[in-house]
Amino acid sequence: MEIRTFALALLEASTLEGKLRPPPADLTDDQPGAPLRVQGPVRPPALRHDPVRKVKVPAAEGLRDPAQRPRIVHALANHELQAAELFAWALLAFPEMPAAFRRGCVAILAEEQAHCRLYVERLAELEHEFGDFGVTAHFWRKIERILTPLEFVCVLGLTFENANLDFAGEHAAAARAAGDEATARVLDVVHADETRHVAFAWRWFQRLKPAGADDWETYCHAVGAPHGPERARGATFDAVARHAAGLSPEFIERLEATTPTRPGGAPR
Ligand SMILES: [Fe+2]
Ligand SMILES: [Fe+2]
Repeated sequence: MEIRTFALALLEASTLEGKLRPPPADLTDDQPGAPLRVQGPVRPPALRHDPVRKVKVPAAEGLRDPAQRPRIVHALANHELQAAELFAWALLAFPEMPAAFRRGCVAILAEEQAHCRLYVERLAELEHEFGDFGVTAHFWRKIERILTPLEFVCVLGLTFENANLDFAGEHAAAARAAGDEATARVLDVVHADETRHVAFAWRWFQRLKPAGADDWETYCHAVGAPHGPERARGATFDAVARHAAGLSPEFIERLEATTPTRPGGAPR
């Protein structure tokens, strides 16, 4: 199967099973096709974005409350599903990118699917199904302004996934403090994988940015308001994970000095 066919099938799947079907090991990329900017995903009816109703997700501390816990795990599952969809979106939007980038996106996409599955399994243990609560299109709302692969790695990798290094850690700590070790263990897996996803974004940021351009200025310009550095971190700041991801000490310092817009922010 071609990467393009796989990515399209994922975006057009109307069942969760179709969304979470892992990429076949023998995917080919002989016909990446013309750039295609899909405007939004097909979703199973229970997981359609509700543009009218505002979906409120409790903050991490809500994990203490057994009534709020499934709503938070549900939001985390939706976060992962959107991430998988947006990597599929990028594979269709940027067919001209080198094989290493496209293969990397497929590998990350598969991990986003696996994360979603872990949260869906956790939801089942909490006696809920994915679709029991409303879902947001938080990531999907950003695609209009992602015109280039550089903007893609900056918005998805260096803002959203970067922020998740803090959010996943904060949620794991909150889950542990609440005695919910099972949810904490899923968050640990996500945190470890996310560090590698941010590393991928940083490597490609270095390759795609104009030669000699300043990292911080280039990043801030590429993401634009309101998706800037204040969204790329949480209330806490996990400098260790960012060093592990290979971000430059200067970039980490600038980010650490930035005031987050969503202190104690929950996944959307
Ligand atoms: Fe993920
Ligand atoms: Fe990720």
